[in-house]
Amino acid sequence: MSTYRPTSTSYKEGARTLPRDYYTSESILAEERERIFSRSWNCVGRASRLARPGDYFLREIAGESIIVLRDRSGTLRAFFNVCRHRGTRLCSEESGRLGETLQCSYHAWTYATDGRLVGAPHMQDVPGFDKADYPLHAAAIAEWEGFLFVNLAEQPAPFDRAWAALQGRFARFGLPALVAGHRVVYDVRANWKLVFQNYSECLHCPTIHPKLAAVLPYQSGANDLTEGPFLGGYMEIKSPNQSATMSGRACGHLVSGDLPDRDRHRAFYYTLMPNLLLSLHPDYVNYYLVRPLAVDRTEVESEWLFHPETLTDAGSNIRDAIEFWDLTNRQDWEIVGQAQLGISSRRYTPGPYSPRESVPAAWDREYLRQMGGS
Ligand code: FES
Ligand SMILES: [Fe+2]
Repeated sequence: MSTYRPTSTSYKEGARTLPRDYYTSESILAEERERIFSRSWNCVGRASRLARPGDYFLREIAGESIIVLRDRSGTLRAFFNVCRHRGTRLCSEESGRLGETLQCSYHAWTYATDGRLVGAPHMQDVPGFDKADYPLHAAAIAEWEGFLFVNLAEQPAPFDRAWAALQGRFARFGLPALVAGHRVVYDVRANWKLVFQNYSECLHCPTIHPKLAAVLPYQSGANDLTEGPFLGGYMEIKSPNQSATMSGRACGHLVSGDLPDRDRHRAFYYTLMPNLLLSLHPDYVNYYLVRPLAVDRTEVESEWLFHPETLTDAGSNIRDAIEFWDLTNRQDWEIVGQAQLGISSRRYTPGPYSPRESVPAAWDREYLRQMGGS
């Protein structure tokens, strides 16, 4: 059964956009790293990337290189990419499969895949040295709906508590079983917050996305998460369209046979702090990982997920869904780039949000709260 409960808008009178410094100041970006990204559960992609023991990939979170891996016994782990001898970065290949151990290329300290130090040349000559005192520095890792999350904090809030509002919420979409059919990395010339704010409203859809606006009327639907770190809701897919695709037809099988009738005509869009945007459609799911590179530059990595049979069935057409969002995404990156340029003007001042921008306004409130405002 769905737990979906639409609620009314969270619009608060007087909400205005953020001051210019939030989009241009290096010190605010550094503060975001410390207060938000280094303390939250950052999504690092799909668990299926670590299908076999020894599989790993690297991720940068809050300026730290993190090795995300499945150890030889099958347990998921995350380690800071830092040798315990003299600190050298251990791993430079973006992804791969480790053997029994991971060896530092400087002086050959060697670690088991569970992080234990198992070899340290000549350290037996050092009085009191004990390998057990020098395991790799671990970061916390969690799995939710087939996605992996890493938290760098020494005492992280437990994932199940931090993400309690989302436990079971999307169960009807069968997310863990979906398979990636396409991946793309975008280089966006705008502050990362503009990517979140832009994703959070469709007031811009009729002007920026005529193709999308014809399928997903911007006044349709409602938000069901309206305050806090997780925000969003649904839009109606306008009949006779079956999905948000170039042709309007479904691109393959339903993501799950458990999807209730009502959700077979709806598309759901959520921003999940600090770095995940999640778009759920009846026949595919796409998601975005947002990573600030500079005050005015953001990496956005996106994958399209499908029912496994959609990827093997000759009758499906995943390009239909991929092209729809690739077109829409590029329109978005173009306009947020223009927003970045305008906001950088000395004459920019915060402007008023409309009721159709209640979600970006709520996102700003949560952002300021996480930055220590209240
Ligand atoms: S720094 Fe890694 S073995 Fe010396
Ligand atoms: Fe858009």
